[in-house]
Parts: sequence; structure tokens; C-alpha cells
Amino acid sequence: MSDLASLEKRALTGLNACPDEAGLRDWHTQYFGKQGEVLLAIKKVGEVPPAERRTYGQEANRIKELLTTAYDSALARQKEKALNQDLESAALDVTLPGRPVRRGRLHVATQDMRRITSIFADMGFQVYRSREIEDDLTNFELLNMPPHHPARDMWDTFHTTTPGVLLRTHTSPGQIHVMRQRCPKPIRVILPGMCYRYEAITTRSEIMFQQIEGLAVGDNVSMTDLKGTIIAFARRLFGKDRQVRIRSSYFPFTEPSIEVDMDCIVCSGKGCGLCKGTGWLEIMGAGMVLPIVLKNGGYDPDRFSGFAFGMGIQRISMLMYGIDDIRYFWANDLRFLEQF
Ligand code: PHE
Repeated sequence: MSDLASLEKRALTGLNACPDEAGLRDWHTQYFGKQGEVLLAIKKVGEVPPAERRTYGQEANRIKELLTTAYDSALARQKEKALNQDLESAALDVTLPGRPVRRGRLHVATQDMRRITSIFADMGFQVYRSREIEDDLTNFELLNMPPHHPARDMWDTFHTTTPGVLLRTHTSPGQIHVMRQRCPKPIRVILPGMCYRYEAITTRSEIMFQQIEGLAVGDNVSMTDLKGTIIAFARRLFGKDRQVRIRSSYFPFTEPSIEVDMDCIVCSGKGCGLCKGTGWLEIMGAGMVLPIVLKNGGYDPDRFSGFAFGMGIQRISMLMYGIDDIRYFWANDLRFLEQF
């Protein structure tokens, strides 16, 4: 019994002397661990003479309960103290305004693509998406460029390791896809998307860039419809006073083919740095769809006619914002991208 009394005293003194949580845990191991003194004392009940056994057992249990409660509350106090210390040392002013989350934005190419798309949508053009991986047949042959046709040199091509499979060099193969799907119904679509060319990268040319192709097929679709569409588009995008000039050109899949210029948005035709003194900016290639191409799309060229145009989105953005280097678009430099 006197062993029990001294155990109680020692344990309580030790508990009160614990400086921190780690100390408390050590204390707990010492008294309540597998070889802990309290548990050993309880086990000793078997060695006590039978007459004293009951009292001994009761006393041992009382001490066990008492120490357990004392330990629990000491631990709770210690945790509270640590928390308060922590709150004081790393004081946090919850009334300060929060830091704003940085908002993302759409890439300038996406913004302009959507802007241009919505202008054509207002004019009744649907959006038709077609594949970026094309076959030689659709990218060239069905557009009137048989193998070895010299006009293929206009588009330096990325070929894949699969013969006849390539990255489209323009959105024009989409003309074939949409015609074959829609014929003999009339068509008024734009075909937006990425194109690829195996070119030296310079300030003016990239190996990837976006185009928007336009295609209208129907009865009596004429060059004046093409002109009217382009002028309306240029004025919606660049301002109502824009003048448009049409030059004769060549594309294998249109006849006649034209190149469309717009009077310079900086100098309105007087001549400046942007238009290199000419007063004009080139905005797209276009023309009347060649009968053989209509036929390849499933349309009877004696009944139907059509116009097509194609423009580079990045070129348009460069004109709109005065960007002088096309390489900025895919360089992922936030200093550039955050300006839009
Ligand atoms: N596909 C042509 C190019 O990439 C542009 C174009 C489209 C020309 C439609 C005429 C008609 O250069």
C-alpha cells in the first residue's frame, strides 16, 4: 500500500513538471506504457496477501483513474497553450482584404477567331470544322492539284510517315468535306482552324497559323456576292469607312482568283510604315470555285456556282493591333498575351 502511495505522489509530481507535449507523452509511456509503472502495480495485486487484496485493488484502480484524468486535462491544457502561442507569434489579420485570384483570359487568337466568326454568323454563315490531318487527295488533288502539279509549291507541306497523310496546309480541303456532306443543298459556311506549313519561321511566317475559309455554293452565286460579303466583313471588323480593292491573282481551285486588299487602317491610303507606303493591306485570297472542284464536291457545275475565300487570322490580328512579329502568337510570352 505504501508503494502505491509513493507511486501516486511521484507520478503527480512528474506530471506537473512536464514542460511540453513531448514531455507529457514521455510521462504517459513511463506510467501507462506496456511496461508502465501503473499497470505493473495493478498486476502486482496477485502477490498481495488475500486479506489486503481487495483494498489494494481498489486503491490501485483509484490511482489509475486519477492519473488518467490528470494526464488528459494536462494534455488538453498544453495543446491550448501551444495554439495560443502559435496564434500570437504568427498573428493573422483576418480583416485585411483578400488577394484577388488572377483571372485567366482567352488567347488573342481565340478572341479574334470568335470575333470574325460572329461577323460571318450574322451574315448567315454556319461554322463547319474539318480535320487538321488531311490526305493528299483532299488537300491537293480534289482541289485541282494532281501530283507533281507545280502549284503545290505554293504550300510547303509537312508529310507524316504514312504515305499520302499530311498536315493540312490550308483550310480549303474543308470545302470538299462540306460539299460532299451537303450536296445538293446550298452551302454558306466558314471553316476555321489551324493550318501547317513547312516554312522557315520569320517575322511574317510561322509553321502553324489559323485560317478562316469561307464557302458559298448555290444558284447564281456570283462574284458580286463575293465582293459584297468581303466588303461587309472588312467594314464590320475594321470600321465602316474601309475601302476594299481587288487584284487579279491565281489559285488552282478558283477561277477567276483574286487577292483582296483593304485601305490601310493607319493612314487610310496615304502610305505609312504599316502598309509599307502602298496605302493598302492584303487581307485574303478568294475567287469563284472552279467547276471541277464543284464537281469533286458532288455539285453539278452547270447548275451551281460558288465563291470561296481564305484568310490568315494571325495576319488579321497583326493588322488590327499593329503586331510586327507573327512569332509572338505561339511563343507563350505572358508579356505579349496579357495585352489582349
Ligand atoms: N487556300 C488559299 C491559301 O491558303 C486561300 C484561298 C481560299 C484562296 C479560298 C481562294 C479561295 O492560300
